[in-house]
Amino acid sequence: MVHIAMPDFYNPARNGRPLEPGAYAGCFACGPDNPKGLRMAFLIPEPGRAEIEWTPAGPYEGYPGILHGGIVSTVLDEAMSKAVTSEIKFVMTAELKVRFRAPVESGVPLNVRGWIVKRGKRLIEAEASIAGPGGVEQAHAWGSFLPARNVPAVPRRPGPAR
Ligand SMILES: CC(C)(COP(=O)(O)OP(=O)(O)OC[C@H]1O[C@@H](n2cnc3c(N)ncnc32)[C@H](O)[C@@H]1OP(=O)(O)O)[C@@H](O)C(=O)NCCC(=O)NCCS
Repeated sequence: MVHIAMPDFYNPARNGRPLEPGAYAGCFACGPDNPKGLRMAFLIPEPGRAEIEWTPAGPYEGYPGILHGGIVSTVLDEAMSKAVTSEIKFVMTAELKVRFRAPVESGVPLNVRGWIVKRGKRLIEAEASIAGPGGVEQAHAWGSFLPARNVPAVPRRPGPAR
């Protein structure tokens, strides 16, 4: 497993990592320009894989100290999406299934990984995992992705790439 530095949750420069080509700077999950977003700057160790060490620190709880399941799903979806878009730009999530194995704690460093498992003619299948301290898996996702249709043009971000 590749260990990477934990990004500052509110760092608008996304820990120095550039926004992926084609990604939208206003994206709720990865966009550096979304003040209410998660600003997740995934690392791509190789095409088809995405990883991040991430500590949820926003107002994202469903119960005290427990991350809301919708946010857990978003994080897993984004991990798979980044794995897929590292090979094919402009895909959309067509299907998402999440297994919540254990409550994901807020304020605790998490290892989030996504990877492609099957490349079809059009359909790409991926999986993702969230592990807490000690590497214990807390949530797992299965997703299917298809080329996007009629996606509005993604505005180019002025200034240097971040
Ligand atoms: C995903 C999406 C782009 C697919 O559109 P599309 O390319 O027109 O897809 P179609 O419905 O024509 O299906 C294309 C093929 O993929 C298959 N397919 C579609 N969704 C599938 C899924 N979830 N799992 C497996 N196969 C699927 C279809 O059966 C079809 O196969 P066929 O050509 O053999 O008949 C479209 O449904 C969409 O925009 N959905 C919303 C996506 C979204 O908002 N995601 C969240 C934000 S990223």
